[in-house]
Amino acid sequence: MPVIAVVGAQWGDEGKGRTVDYIAQEADMVIRFQGGDNAGHTVVNDLGEFRMHLVPSGIFSPQATCLLGPGTVVNFDTLLEELKMLEEAGVDTSNMVVDKRAHVILPFHRQLDGAEEAARKGEWEVGTTKRGIGPTYSDKSARHGIRTGELLRPDRLRERLEMLVPRKNRALTYFGLQETSVNELMSLCEGWREKLGHRIVDSVPLVRDAVRDDKEVVLEGQLGAMRDLDWGIYPFTTSSSPTAGGACVGAGIPPRALNEVLGVVKAFSTSVGGGPFPAELHGELAEKLRTAGPEVGHEFGATTGRPRRCGWFDGVAVGYSSWLNGFTGISVTKLDVLDNFEELKICAVYRLDGEVIDYVPDTATQEEVEPIYETFEGWMSDTTGIRDWDDLPGNAQKYLRRIEALAGAPIRFVSVGPERDQIMGIPEFKTSQEPRDS
Ligand code: GDP
Ligand code: IMO
Ligand code: MG
Repeated sequence: MPVIAVVGAQWGDEGKGRTVDYIAQEADMVIRFQGGDNAGHTVVNDLGEFRMHLVPSGIFSPQATCLLGPGTVVNFDTLLEELKMLEEAGVDTSNMVVDKRAHVILPFHRQLDGAEEAARKGEWEVGTTKRGIGPTYSDKSARHGIRTGELLRPDRLRERLEMLVPRKNRALTYFGLQETSVNELMSLCEGWREKLGHRIVDSVPLVRDAVRDDKEVVLEGQLGAMRDLDWGIYPFTTSSSPTAGGACVGAGIPPRALNEVLGVVKAFSTSVGGGPFPAELHGELAEKLRTAGPEVGHEFGATTGRPRRCGWFDGVAVGYSSWLNGFTGISVTKLDVLDNFEELKICAVYRLDGEVIDYVPDTATQEEVEPIYETFEGWMSDTTGIRDWDDLPGNAQKYLRRIEALAGAPIRFVSVGPERDQIMGIPEFKTSQEPRDS
């Protein structure tokens, strides 16, 4: 599987970081293809426990070149902090580079993200991470954005900032925020150029040659399909495309070069931020899902610390996500969190106006759907030490087979704890005993 996209199948935080860390042990290149430091990818391995916001989760594999691809948005202050944190932990970061086409998050983008969020009322709050993601992608689409490569060309950078800054000052003033200036931004960019300029490269030959030479390339997604700008719960989405199509665009890889699309699927549902979430639970059950298992896996945002909304597994969302992404396999995470539930539920279809539907409708309609559940008997035993499909309790196998059928793609991995080795590879013939729904 030379080129493999690893993407979130749900609302984010599925366990992409730990999955990429595991797969990257064999990889030659790992590319983050969209998003910025809104990501919080947790990796637990021999070197410690890490919450990665920007640096690809393949950084722990010394042979892998790690790239922040053209589709990403980069906060260089976060990057500096993260590289320092990794280096202090003994991780070699010399193989980490940023493409010249990636966009730069500037301080006013973060300020405007916060101000725009505050201006959204009540149920319209997106609950952004306030990392400046939306405003930076907006500038990119409007063709006002600053690319990382421009940090290396101060004259060009100044000219472009001279056009950009008056516009941004109008927005800052509108929100009652302090204005910015070209000189202030120039000196910030100069500092970044001095410290990180050597990492800013044109990734085209690197990526093209890796793919042509059949190297193993892993594309690391940020967030999940349900918060994709087009296909997610707009406007409660992020501002980029975390799906396999976005992976090709954001990494600069032709669609036909993609060999595998691995959907990362949490064994239940979580969501941080606003928007519809049909299988949501409240009260004791939600709290139990949020805090079961080891503390490192508790459901609090890795970037903002917010408690994640929790719910039963939503097979409609995962099936829809599988269709959009073209999953060739799935990695099911956090099975161990369900070890102490006597009964589990899976939402297989939605009811809408008395009819049954098996896909995710547009956001306004999704707010009106009612989940229809199937009930499963729990397994009530500890799975954290299991490393083979055959050793999983029968009820856990049944539950996983139903997830596989709804996802319409074979289970390739199951994880039973946050540590690097708490994951098992699953040969296809072990699971595929139910017809897949899609
Ligand atoms: P990402 O954003 O998709 O990389 O996921 P996050 O790191 O934000 O959230 C996943 C959380 O679950 C992290 O705290 C992980 O350490 C934890 N985790 C991942 N896989 C497992 C697992 O199989 N079992 C348990 N208990 N925790 C897990
Ligand atoms: P990883 O990569 C979970 C959510 C925010 C908000 C919406 C838009 O760790 O899965 P943004 O800051 O992108 O403009 O916020 O998306 N969100 C995430 N939720 N995990 C993430 O990243 C997220 N990144 C953004 O809560 O609702
Ligand atoms: Mg996360």
